[in-house]
Amino acid sequence: MSSNREHFSSRLGFILAAAGSAVGIGNLVGFPVSATKNGGGAFLIIYALFVAFVCLPVMMAEMAMGRKAQKDPYGAYRKLSGKSKRWSIAGLLGVITPFMIAVFYMVITVWIFGYLFQTTMGNLDLLASPEHFGAFINNTSVFWYMVIVAVIVNLILVGGVKEGIEKASKVLMPALFVLLISLVAYVLTLDNAMAGVRFYVVPDFSKLDASVLNGALSQAFFSLSLGMGILMTYASYISKDDNIVSGAKMVAITDSLVAFIAGLMVLPAIFSFNPDTNPAELSDSSVSMIFVYLPKLLLALQADIGYVGASVVAGIFFLLVFFAAITSLVSIVEVPTATLIEEAKLSRKKALTVLAIATGALTVLCTMSFGMVDWLTKMTAYGGADKSMFDVVYDIFYDTILPLNGLLVCLFVMYKWKKVRLSEELAQGCDDYVGSWVEKYVNFSLSTFIPVILLVIFINTVATKFFATSLFGF
Ligand code: PFF
Repeated sequence: MSSNREHFSSRLGFILAAAGSAVGIGNLVGFPVSATKNGGGAFLIIYALFVAFVCLPVMMAEMAMGRKAQKDPYGAYRKLSGKSKRWSIAGLLGVITPFMIAVFYMVITVWIFGYLFQTTMGNLDLLASPEHFGAFINNTSVFWYMVIVAVIVNLILVGGVKEGIEKASKVLMPALFVLLISLVAYVLTLDNAMAGVRFYVVPDFSKLDASVLNGALSQAFFSLSLGMGILMTYASYISKDDNIVSGAKMVAITDSLVAFIAGLMVLPAIFSFNPDTNPAELSDSSVSMIFVYLPKLLLALQADIGYVGASVVAGIFFLLVFFAAITSLVSIVEVPTATLIEEAKLSRKKALTVLAIATGALTVLCTMSFGMVDWLTKMTAYGGADKSMFDVVYDIFYDTILPLNGLLVCLFVMYKWKKVRLSEELAQGCDDYVGSWVEKYVNFSLSTFIPVILLVIFINTVATKFFATSLFGF
């Protein structure tokens, strides 16, 4: 079976695809804003430490499992555990989670595409009006945008690993870098740009408390696409000679670098728009930043460069976010696709058709949960508030289950699969791994404090989300 399994054609292809998954909507807007609000440079330092010392070992463990098993997450847990029933449940969770996150992420990607389309049509002024976003998400035109996004994602995925995912990443990722750098270069020339840069990078250690640390770690974990089965699946498409240790480092560095550089685009723009901005008052939510605040700011550029100029800058911005979203969406849909191909023995085309119908139906329901349909909009209530279907999917799968999946990876690799096997796998393609300090650190951290941290995050998220209380007293 595994000999005719499709593989990436090169290490670069794998790294670009994995980085494409990691670089997403959160990197471009969410990260810079949350860094600025939570201590600037102090947050950046803490974030980098979390990436290096907590997230990287988990990433290596996920990749090692995938490459060893040469299977999707469900198959990997089953194969490496000798078909243990208990671990099959972890595998199942490793497939259901990305499936549900794909639904939630699809909804937002569709909105981004809609904003990109509207900007290109010359409607930036419309996008910038305060009531537009609310009207836009409840307008039936979103269903047309959804069809287009679904077609793009499926056209990439139907090409398979080499001709689809790898080729798309090789085009979209360099394009994303070019768009990002051009926007940064432009934004840094605006008046007051440096005030934004100062807020972003000057450290304020007094802001760091338990909740900020929790937030930074969760952000790093999600940003690197951990706990979603993506890296396990992508690593099952690389060869035994590839170096997982250096590959994981490259992915983590690229993702963090893009997030950091995005701050040099977003913060100067915000401070140039309003030099008296109080960072504490900026919204933490990427959604309201992208769809409500930034269009206003982009339109204001017309005073400097005219309406057409402002529309071009806005178009470049939405294209950038769209590319980042598409590569992430492709990676997450590939997980259940691989499962259907391997476990249900469907052809890639059939697997994609089944998933298009299933995710399509759920995405339509989520899209209608912002006011179009009452029972979807007020589906349930917990944590002291009414919750829509979209909220439920986000709260359960994106916020709560991800750290749990990370915890299960650590426990599985250390206590079921065992350290020696992890080391053996990581040593393939990395000759000096065994005996190195990296090996010692990975084995020590994954068997001790990383699972404890992930458990605390999981419990705290359940407490905050569902019971409106917190372990950290906020
Ligand atoms: N790193 C991605 C992001 O920051 O948006 C995480 C991700 C989310 C990947 C959702 C894929 C996905 F569907």
